[in-house]
Amino acid sequence: MITTNERQEKLLDQHAALINPSQAREMRDAGLGIIESRREGAYVWDQSGTRYIDCRQETSVFNVGRRNPELIDVLCAALKEYDVGNSLFFSEPRVQLAHRLGELSPGGALRAVAYGVSGGEVNDFALKLSRAITRRPRVIAMDGSYLGSTGFAASASGDARFRQPFEPLIPNITFVEFGDADALEAEMGEDVACVILETVQTWAGVRTPPSHYLQRVRDLCDKNGSLMILDEHETGFGRCGKTFALDIYGPGVVPDIMTLGKALGGGLYPFAAAVYRKEYLKFWEQHPFSHLSTFAGSDLACVIGLSTIDWIHQHRLGSHAEARGAELTRGLQKFAEKYDAVVRSVRACGLLVAIDFANDELGPQMSRDLSQFGVLASCSPVSPSTMFVIPSLVVSSEDIKTILDAFSRALAGNQSLMAPRPIESLQSLMHS
Ligand SMILES: Cc1ncc(COP(=O)(O)O)c(C=O)c1O
Repeated sequence: MITTNERQEKLLDQHAALINPSQAREMRDAGLGIIESRREGAYVWDQSGTRYIDCRQETSVFNVGRRNPELIDVLCAALKEYDVGNSLFFSEPRVQLAHRLGELSPGGALRAVAYGVSGGEVNDFALKLSRAITRRPRVIAMDGSYLGSTGFAASASGDARFRQPFEPLIPNITFVEFGDADALEAEMGEDVACVILETVQTWAGVRTPPSHYLQRVRDLCDKNGSLMILDEHETGFGRCGKTFALDIYGPGVVPDIMTLGKALGGGLYPFAAAVYRKEYLKFWEQHPFSHLSTFAGSDLACVIGLSTIDWIHQHRLGSHAEARGAELTRGLQKFAEKYDAVVRSVRACGLLVAIDFANDELGPQMSRDLSQFGVLASCSPVSPSTMFVIPSLVVSSEDIKTILDAFSRALAGNQSLMAPRPIESLQSLMHS
């Protein structure tokens, strides 16, 4: 009879042969070649029944926990009435969610909504809208950003690895250093349609903006007649301790367009949205049906989106993320001091946490060791020395202790960390 382990190896081989060979190799090397079985709250089980705290979370998708039972009930009930719907017809959930997202938006000021299925898609829409509204060609984007793998979003993503294999991409995109308002000012000009940035740069290793930076970006955009587009895919819906990271790093700042996704679908339905100023609705008057998407704003997605937002607020997940994030970060900082040859730095924003290890080999090696102690955490595909620890927002204090205990054992118990074994870097995933 075939064992669980053999079944897993066979599936990974098939994945390598049919879907992505580098992914299978890199994840296997990092001890993350698991086949997800049971999923519940902060946890996931592999097929042999081993339970892990999921600190990978498809980067911020499962804020409400895996397979949240109340949201599953909502989805099951919705399936009795709805399907994906006709995108050209009309539906109550679509309008109700548009209201809700508008209310939730910074200052309640972004009252128009465009739906999408993925983050890349709504970032594409935001960039297209800024060009159409301003009739200007140029986009200013940030070094180190990741905005998605679709056309405009990939073109405006700051790491060349997302662009290079596909060039030539969309022209007229200029990159500046995130956090450097003077560099941005120097690039501003009458041809600039928009400035697009993440509130906190996640893939670059949870880089938070310097104080007053977002206000300066706003002021520069106002002065120049350019739109400010803020991406809160990773940071929205309580992840950083407030509804949006903007509430922490730029309270009072109102972007012209904000893009959202990931947690919005409750971990059950792929979903994304762009909220924007109502005055830009004139775009549709001038160019009806010029931007379409079959599955965007499907009835089921909107039902689950509404309930997800309510659930996050009812359960005060923002405050929870702040408190648990502080416990986690405090513990990791102590390890950074104790193992300073191994851990370079820890950066955090609520429960969005990044750890920089001393070299590229240590990241995947730590992933492997942590998985032995019941914690799944993966490294950044753009920088394998950077590990993300992104648990669900329903994680308990006890779970945080378990995560810290796993780090303690992985750091202390493994002498090889000081002389890392050479293994192929995650970077090859990007070159496959
Ligand atoms: C900040 C940010 N924006 C946009 C995206 C793209 O989202 P999607 O993968 O849904 O296209 C991501 C994905 O990781 C992201 O981290």
